[in-house]
Amino acid sequence: MTTLKVVRGTRDLLPPETALWNRIEATARRVFARYNFGEIRTPIFEDTSLFARSVGEETDIVSKEMYTWEDRARAQSEKSQSLTLRPENTAGVVRAYIEHKLGESGQLQKLYYIGPQFRRERPQKGRYRQFWQIGAEVIGPPSAGSESPVRDTEILEMLATLLDELGVSGWTLELNSVGSSADRERYNQALREALVPVAPRMCADCQRRAATNPLRVLDCKVPEDQPIIATLPRIADFLGEDSKLHFAAVIAALDAAGVPYHLNPRLVRGLDYYTRTTFEFTHGGLGAQNALLGGGRYDGLSEAIGGPKAPGIGFAMGLDRLVLTLQAQEAERKTTPRADAYIAPLGENLNAAALALARELRRAGLTIELGDGSFRLKKSFEAAGKIARRIVILGEDELQSGILTVKDFASGVQLKVPRGELFAILAK
Ligand code: HAM
Repeated sequence: MTTLKVVRGTRDLLPPETALWNRIEATARRVFARYNFGEIRTPIFEDTSLFARSVGEETDIVSKEMYTWEDRARAQSEKSQSLTLRPENTAGVVRAYIEHKLGESGQLQKLYYIGPQFRRERPQKGRYRQFWQIGAEVIGPPSAGSESPVRDTEILEMLATLLDELGVSGWTLELNSVGSSADRERYNQALREALVPVAPRMCADCQRRAATNPLRVLDCKVPEDQPIIATLPRIADFLGEDSKLHFAAVIAALDAAGVPYHLNPRLVRGLDYYTRTTFEFTHGGLGAQNALLGGGRYDGLSEAIGGPKAPGIGFAMGLDRLVLTLQAQEAERKTTPRADAYIAPLGENLNAAALALARELRRAGLTIELGDGSFRLKKSFEAAGKIARRIVILGEDELQSGILTVKDFASGVQLKVPRGELFAILAK
């Protein structure tokens, strides 16, 4: 009998890795609570038309990647229905917002979710067919301020805080505005016209999209099409005055809050519902699938699926990718020396002086490894090289003169440092 295996693109998560998942989820819940978000749990499957009308028929997600099936009626009172495993959660949250009339409270709804999503993509590092998202949405009637750039910057600042608290270092916030739906229409028209002469030289998907939904041509990954795509008009040149002001306010607030970002005029995102602010947080360590999270504003989504006017903004973070990033960082930390310095006393009679020096530097906040005066100098160097960035040599001469020898392992530079300046040198 053949042994059964986990389905391609899906994974079992086992201890001890699950402990890391739990820690990340707990940190996210704690941070979201500080920003006054509450949790929402929507079903894992929904009516297929929800995704077609929100994410968009021509997107890769809806046109190629959904797990869809016909759910046959089991009783006369039931109808057959096309159902789909959710490929993302924003559509479900907005459906629930409409269904439970959450807008009638007149308040902004701040909702977060943690759960699995399903896309039939080609599996590779950081890309799975069942993957997990931690996401949040801020949505409400315009009278509650749901359109205000304040909401955009609060979300972005919260994400910077969350990534910092999770200990993710080296992320980049990529930021753009795709304009209002009217701006998007003018842009789509310009793209459509620009594509007429070049589309016949592009891939089959692009040829179709050039006619049906030209914006989606920008998602094309086919290498031969990229030089053509680079010549197409840019959304930034089609933003109306309101969209420009909205985006300028977002940028000014990020500057004031000290959240770093990188403007990326090509960032249109692969889902149709976006308007105005769009963003991704990327991480260099992830390789090709470098988006840790993505999101943006969707001021017309509620109306597109039959609800009241309810502008919103949100994001979803790929939990699988976050785990990969934290694991890689942890592995790197293990192989790179962590202590600021290793103090090597030259002889057992200097152990007490070395302890006193270590105590002084540790109290000043440095991480110090204390050597052993019974080690020969060579052994001290070997031990130090494995666990510290520098070695400080403390011999009888050094003690008398108050001038210590410090060697930096990365640069190979050896310096004579007066004791009073030691902290400043080691703290660098
Ligand atoms: P998305 O960019 O399609 O946006 O997905 C968000 C994140 O989910 C990605 O940045 C990535 O980290 C992760 N992700 C997506 N697909 C996969 C996959 N196959 N394997 C592993 N991780 C994946 C959305 O889903 C929007 N609903 C985000 C949003 C919320 N916009 C507004 N509100």
